[in-house]
Amino acid sequence: MCEKMMYENELKAIVKASRFRERKIYDNSLIDFASNDYLGLSEKKQLLKRAYERVNMFPTHAPKASLMVNGYHEIHYEFEEFLCRQNGFEAAHVVGSGFLANLSLIEALPRKADVLLMDEEYHASGILASKLLSCEVCFFKHNDAEALEKLLQSKKYKRAIVAVEGIYSMSGDVLNRDIFDVVDRYNTVLIVDEAHSSGVIGKNLLGVFDLYDISPKENYIKMGTLGKAYGSYGAYILSSNHIRDFLQNRAKALIYATAPSLFDIALAHQGMLYIFKHKTRLHQEFLARIDLIQELFCKEISGLIFPYYVQNSQEVLLLQKQLQKEGFLVGAIRPPTVNVAMLRIIPRLNVDFEVTKNFFNKLKEMTF
Ligand SMILES: Cc1ncc(COP(=O)(O)O)c(C=O)c1O
Repeated sequence: MCEKMMYENELKAIVKASRFRERKIYDNSLIDFASNDYLGLSEKKQLLKRAYERVNMFPTHAPKASLMVNGYHEIHYEFEEFLCRQNGFEAAHVVGSGFLANLSLIEALPRKADVLLMDEEYHASGILASKLLSCEVCFFKHNDAEALEKLLQSKKYKRAIVAVEGIYSMSGDVLNRDIFDVVDRYNTVLIVDEAHSSGVIGKNLLGVFDLYDISPKENYIKMGTLGKAYGSYGAYILSSNHIRDFLQNRAKALIYATAPSLFDIALAHQGMLYIFKHKTRLHQEFLARIDLIQELFCKEISGLIFPYYVQNSQEVLLLQKQLQKEGFLVGAIRPPTVNVAMLRIIPRLNVDFEVTKNFFNKLKEMTF
């Protein structure tokens, strides 16, 4: 009975460092400034109903097999066609999740004689996948086009693959536009993870390509997730036909996984149609929140992630608790996920603007 559990020491160390993570079911009455449901689509019941009706039109409602066996379904196909039309890419590929999409891209594209150049703040799924590679992997200074260029000049490689994010998930930084120029000059493959930018930035809310008005090219890849702004679950990869064909034949996470859930894809499709229809109003509501944060905190945010840095992990947990008592839910992000503990605050568009304003004033009162 008093035998030591196998991971007891490791767990104790995590607790001691205030880094213990746990799952909680939060009270629904809390005002949600913590989730990635940027536009509030997760609460739109008419989208749920339409997606259900669409799936219910078919004799089967489960994907049943890998996309490359017989799991590919009309619901996947129509969504992919829609994505291509909206974003101007030649080809699309649905994926079970963003984590799997990064695993697919990063594990498959860099081959032995290639080099992978990844922003040092790239998502954990990409970093994990990079550990599977036999080619050289370099991390460049966050969002620094010059640092990237220097690496490209100093390395010998057959192909270079650059991996960046549209909006970085923790710092909220928007991708430096100059990185596109460097990528073009050196003719590299470019992977842009748009998990936090697609559905949020750009005048059509399509992400960073839309924001900078950049047209897709043969070697550009856009990866997007469906579990954030689109209020569903899953992901997609947009690329040229030949990169799509290559992934389909080499990316183990695409080949050896069950096809994405039909319902989740149908729901994301409805979410995208909704955003397209309401894009002008949504963009205005987005800008109003950007202005509010600028006005109250003199901080320019690019997407809907407001990182509020604090002293340490203990303080961030305390602040989160105090805000919860006031009826607000925010994320408390601690090392090792980030270097400096921070509240991750998402001013979601479906929270009333006045309530959002009150919340930020309360935060100011508590911390200034
Ligand atoms: C930048 C980024 N990429 C990929 C992912 C993984 O996406 P998913 O949650 O769909 O697996 C996340 C977070 O979830 C993310 O923040």
